[in-house]
Amino acid sequence: MIWNGIVNAVNGARRPGEPPLEVGPLPWLGSALAFGKNLGDLLRGCQQRHGDVFTLVVAGKRMTFVLDPLDFPEVLRRVEELSFVEIADDISAKAFGHSRAVEKQMSQEAVHAQYSSHLKAANIGALSARMAEELSLILDDAPGGWQPGELFAFVSRCMFSAGTDALFGSGVAGADALRAFQRFDRQFPLLVAGVPARLLARVERSRQLLAGLVGALRPDASAFIAERDRYFTGLVSELDKQRMQLGMLWAAQANTIPAAFWTLAFVLADRHARAAIDEEIAAAGGRFGKDELKKMVKLDSAISEALRLSSGSLTIRRVTRPFVLALESGGRHALREGDRVCLFPYLTHRDPELYPEPEHYQFDRFLGKQFFKRGKKVGFALMPYGGGVSMCPGRFLAHEEVKLFVAMLLDRYEVELLDDRLPSLDQRRAGLGILPPLSDVAFRYRRKAAARATAVGP
Ligand code: HEM
Repeated sequence: MIWNGIVNAVNGARRPGEPPLEVGPLPWLGSALAFGKNLGDLLRGCQQRHGDVFTLVVAGKRMTFVLDPLDFPEVLRRVEELSFVEIADDISAKAFGHSRAVEKQMSQEAVHAQYSSHLKAANIGALSARMAEELSLILDDAPGGWQPGELFAFVSRCMFSAGTDALFGSGVAGADALRAFQRFDRQFPLLVAGVPARLLARVERSRQLLAGLVGALRPDASAFIAERDRYFTGLVSELDKQRMQLGMLWAAQANTIPAAFWTLAFVLADRHARAAIDEEIAAAGGRFGKDELKKMVKLDSAISEALRLSSGSLTIRRVTRPFVLALESGGRHALREGDRVCLFPYLTHRDPELYPEPEHYQFDRFLGKQFFKRGKKVGFALMPYGGGVSMCPGRFLAHEEVKLFVAMLLDRYEVELLDDRLPSLDQRRAGLGILPPLSDVAFRYRRKAAARATAVGP
């Protein structure tokens, strides 16, 4: 009784017109522990008690979750009342260790214009061709005979090496860089939660090593990274420039590696998917240029299906002034200035109304399909890349990189899982993007006897 009184006094009360409030079991922390353990389970429980909109207290913040995908467009549209900039700046400074001054020195418009000119679907040709060349070098460099391995470790090596060198230039992604990246990425949830880097074992050293590597512009860096370098040089300190490039390294790798892992693992574990995708790859005749990749529509669908099942991204906005959010179903909810409004597509991706048998992997689920809820078409049925102003600008490149990797690997190698049971998702990373596996999977691979040299066409 007394405890409840303390929790309520610290965590506050629901005001008229506001969404149902879950104060959580602890003062100030609220539901923080359950949030960090398994966000999907926590939200499912709240949804059963309160419906699709409710507010949680998490580490002193009020977070309102909007779970009906038919309401996502309204949340993403209200850019005046729901802002992203402060959220992004805060996460970026904590995670990458740049000074807060950067936010005032750089222009969001300029940085987004760079995304647009280098990462839009029509403009990724050179980056994609470079990625294919890098992958080709890595895949050619394997010894003969069956090689045993761990799948996530293998995918991490290939994707980190090829993706990083394609962006930043040859030689950036050595074994030391991968180790430093993995150490940094493991501690990422704690950094974002506000734990100072100096309190986390060796994380500052890893950040420094990586920032030094990607912050020094190489002559063969991509045009995108060269333009970022030119933009930040002189505008911010040298240290801050390096940290901004570190931010791009993390954004480009942290989700793409687990996305490639899940796409490959699901295909390998499902013989129908494997047969259909092998057929598409064989039809490409060893060429993986733009035209050949475009024809691999089943592989496109398999990538989307893997992202559906593994994405744990969270879209967060901060309420800039009190307003009433009108729902598609007719409900209205008052929101306070400073509240966070959050979308968690993990639950949408498991909604049986959109996806029958949602836990079942079905590689061709996205082949030309549309998705409906209460008879209405859902625009945000699949949302691994976020949405609205914060939608991932690297999504076209990410998709192409995963596609190239899976197609080129299965073209040149026989690959077999040694255990068909795939691991669970690591739920502790919910909110940060694609969830990695909780444990690795044993597999083996061997160069195909009649391997052709893969031609990398434009
Ligand atoms: C499968 C791979 C990827 C996934 C699932 C993914 C997902 C996401 C998500 C969900 C966000 C939005 C975060 C938010 O709303 O707070 C985001 C942002 C971002 N992503 Fe990706 N991403 C991927 C790959 C990439 C790649 C390859 C690049 C670059 C080469 C990239 C660059 C970025 C950048 C720069 C942002 C921040 C955008 C901003 O400041 O508004 N991403 N990504």
